Formats: sequence, structure tokens, C-alpha cells
Amino acid sequence: MSTAKKDYKRITVKSLVEMKANGEKISMLTAYDYTMAKIVDGAGIDVILVGDSASNVMAGHETTLPITLDQMIYHASSVIRAIDRALVVVDLPFGSYQSDPKEALRSAIRIMKESGGHAVKLEGGKEVKESIKRILNAGVPVMGHLGLTPQSIYKFGTYTVRAKEEAEAKKLKEDALMLQKTGCFAIVLEKVPAKLAKEVAESLTIPIIGIGAGNGVDGQVLVTHDMLGMTHEFNPRFLRRYLDLYKEMTQAFEQYVTDVKSVDFPNENEQY
Ligand code: KIV
Repeated sequence: MSTAKKDYKRITVKSLVEMKANGEKISMLTAYDYTMAKIVDGAGIDVILVGDSASNVMAGHETTLPITLDQMIYHASSVIRAIDRALVVVDLPFGSYQSDPKEALRSAIRIMKESGGHAVKLEGGKEVKESIKRILNAGVPVMGHLGLTPQSIYKFGTYTVRAKEEAEAKKLKEDALMLQKTGCFAIVLEKVPAKLAKEVAESLTIPIIGIGAGNGVDGQVLVTHDMLGMTHEFNPRFLRRYLDLYKEMTQAFEQYVTDVKSVDFPNENEQY
């Protein structure tokens, strides 16, 4: 396995395609606020996704559907203020691009103008092709998203693995090729069989970033709050937890309660 790593001062959409060509895997994580983005960027993560998963993680909604364009712009502008190196990709939220290509372009322009994001991501295949073309024609880079597309959760009915059947796998491969031909600079492939994801990654020149799509793809993305173990109700097989922050934060908060109640905090050195 290649661990090649070029020293990029600033990641652009071109850097990602170059990384794939050089066999360097791409690291991507989510962030929705300044403080988290500062740490993620400082750690050398290549791509920061201001995902519409903010709807679940930050606002506590059951799905990604309720988050608005204004709310995405708020999260993205906070992230942008923290960044020195990473490419910042911002999700177009549900309802901001599906109805017609002109609306899709207006939404993408608002994100670029009002947040300072570097690219947008949207879900779907041939049904959103015309919207992608419009956005690209305005000079805005687009990342695709295939496989499990959470904005269509009520169509699927479940969050189970997608494209296990031949017909759906065939459509996914056609959509991936179409996204490349249309001009997308990368595609997120979510929760599909590893063999299929590898096949797609090997057949395209643009990077495929996987989440629950095995290690035969060109990079990986996780939701930061999940990989830090801050969320603990969500336990898909693909999730590797690097910390158990839920436990550690709970212990810290409990200790704070004890210290305040017992007047241990603040002590003499912690006052004026
Ligand atoms: O919104 C999000 O966080 C995403 C990732 C799961 C890829 O789209």
C-alpha cells in the first residue's frame, strides 16, 4: 500500500486529482464550527466537509432534511475562518438544488459568496446532471455523492448498504462515470460493497472518497463527532472510533459539578 505524501501548502481540487494519480490517499473529515475546523485543519486533514450531517450532529434532527441553506452558510463561514490548508467542501442542503438547475446555481453561488467555501457537494446521479452542469459553468467545483444518499432516506426507507443488487450497482457505475464526464472533481461513495467501490475507483480518474466503502477507494471520510466518540448511539460497522470523548467529557463535567458543589473550584490560584 502506498503512503506517498507530497507537502501541499494549500489543497485545491487539482491537488486531489494529483494525489489520486500519485497513489496518495485523501483524508477528509467533517467540521461545522470554527474551533473544530481549526483542530482538524491543523492536524493536516486534506478536505473538510461542512456536511449537512450538521442537521443531525449539531441540531439533533433525525435526518439531514431540515437543515436550511442559511444554516449551512452559517456553519461554512465559521469553518472557513479557521482554515489555512484544507479544501472546504460545503453540502448543498435538501431542497436547495433538486427543483431546477437555476435554483441549484443560485444556491451554490450563495454558498460561495456568503461563506467563502471552495466547492459544493450534492447528492444523486443523472437526475441532477443539468444542475451540476450549471454550477460548473459558473466556475464552482462540484463533488458528487452516490450510494447511500441520506437526503433520499424516505425513498430508501433504511440506512442499509446500497447497490448490493446488480441493477443498482450498474446504475451506480453509470452515474459515477456520468459525474466524471460532466466535470465533478471527486465523488463520495457512501455505504456500498467494498468490491463495487474499488471497481468504481479503478475505472475513474477522479478521486472516490469512501465512507463505509472499503479501502480500495482513493480516500476516506468520517463524521468527526462519530470518530471522536462524542456520539454514541450511532454504531455502524464502518465507523472506527479514535477516542471515547462521550465518556471522557461526561467524566470531566461530573468532576466539574463535584468541584463547584464542594467549593474546590475555583481555588486560590484561580481567582483575582
Ligand atoms: O453530511 C455528511 O457528513 C456527509 C458525509 C457522511 C459524507 O455527506
